[in-house]
Amino acid sequence: MRSSPLVASIVTVLAASSPAIAEPAYISVGADALPTVRDVASADHAALSIESSNDEVAVVAIDPSELDRLSEAMHGRHDRCGGFILHDSLADALAVAAPKPPIDYTIDRGEVVRAVLPAIDDSAILATIRELSSRKNRYYRSESGAAVSLWLRDRWRGFTDRADVGVELFDQGYPQKSVILTIRGTTKPDEIVVIGGHLDSIALGGTASDAPGADDDASGIATLDHVAQVLLAAQFRPERTIQLIAYAAEEVGLRGSQAIVRDYRRRGVNVIGALQLDMTNYQGSDRDIWLIDDFTSAAQNRFVAALIERYTTATWGVDRCGYACSDHASWHRAGVPASMPHETRSRDRNKHIHTARDTLEISNNNAAHAAKFARLGAAYAIELAKGSLDAGAAASSEPAPTCRDGAAPSDAAGGGKLFAALLAVAGLGTLLSLGRRFG
Ligand code: BES
Ligand code: ZN
Repeated sequence: MRSSPLVASIVTVLAASSPAIAEPAYISVGADALPTVRDVASADHAALSIESSNDEVAVVAIDPSELDRLSEAMHGRHDRCGGFILHDSLADALAVAAPKPPIDYTIDRGEVVRAVLPAIDDSAILATIRELSSRKNRYYRSESGAAVSLWLRDRWRGFTDRADVGVELFDQGYPQKSVILTIRGTTKPDEIVVIGGHLDSIALGGTASDAPGADDDASGIATLDHVAQVLLAAQFRPERTIQLIAYAAEEVGLRGSQAIVRDYRRRGVNVIGALQLDMTNYQGSDRDIWLIDDFTSAAQNRFVAALIERYTTATWGVDRCGYACSDHASWHRAGVPASMPHETRSRDRNKHIHTARDTLEISNNNAAHAAKFARLGAAYAIELAKGSLDAGAAASSEPAPTCRDGAAPSDAAGGGKLFAALLAVAGLGTLLSLGRRFG
């Protein structure tokens, strides 16, 4: 993602071991899978050239006719779907593999986070899930799937008229568009923090299906919608740019997020972290939040775990999808640190997704579980993007629209204070165990 003019000189050119390939395909693979790439090519006596390699990623020029066999071998040996990224050019491949400056995961905005979190309101999230899931479907090619993009854009535009906030559609060439809300960073606007979920739903029958998708993924969209609301209602001004993205067409092969990632890479947009909220409101496991450890960043996952501990009373564990199960994988494959906090562990997953029964009833018509993810999302945005509250503006601003129903906002900070005190006592042990769990 982050391209650098120094890339060519930084990377280690290891070997051009085979005769030049007329029109090579340039791929990047995890360094651990390099022997597999070698085996596939040598079995066919095909040309292969390793253009660069470091501890994590290798860039390889390979005969394009080998790609299908490589894909099979990746699946068979490494249980990876795809398992490599095909790039448009060598420069593009090298940019992904280039060493990146370490990201600072310091947690030091407690005052801001604790001022924002009390505004999180389950009933506001519930209302948005209800609204989204009351449509026939949000299929990426249906009329209702297209309409929901416009609805969400207009809703988000209604949150604020601040000049540093904008809401745009991202057109991938099918009826449903992705929706992107941007809060421009004050001092580091070129460093971007992304929180996303997918706007589409799916069930048998495509455009004609009944696919309410209340959990998958109206819950994630409603959660990030609420994160936007509480940040804007508090007049939060981030140092880095924050983008909240409702991806189109996730259910048909992560197409919306892949198009966005490709576009950002082409334009050299520097995303420093991505959090994916896909299914947040079905409580099916003994612990609350499950951090997916495949197609994600171990370093960012440690940060997310520390945020859960610091700012919520939620319990958490580690699990895996086993494949590129949601849009976090699109960012991960492009070298962007990605995380995916999930509502259950895999074996307890909501069995009704992708059917007409993915309704709010399955979550007992409340959004208490999703609210935990909203706390985490807001903390992630504030601690990764940094920034502060514009106190004067907050005092004179209107309350967030969905707080009008008079429901008392739930107070995460109340329980959080006791928890913080306990944490201070247990602090070192907690951090050590976090480190162990994510190696
Ligand atoms: N939300 C699901 C993925 C999911 C389901 C994650 C259950 C964890 C537990 C997502 O929308 C989905 O259905 N993804 C597809 C894969 C995608 C590449 C089309 C899937 O899992 O089949
Ligand atoms: Zn989903």
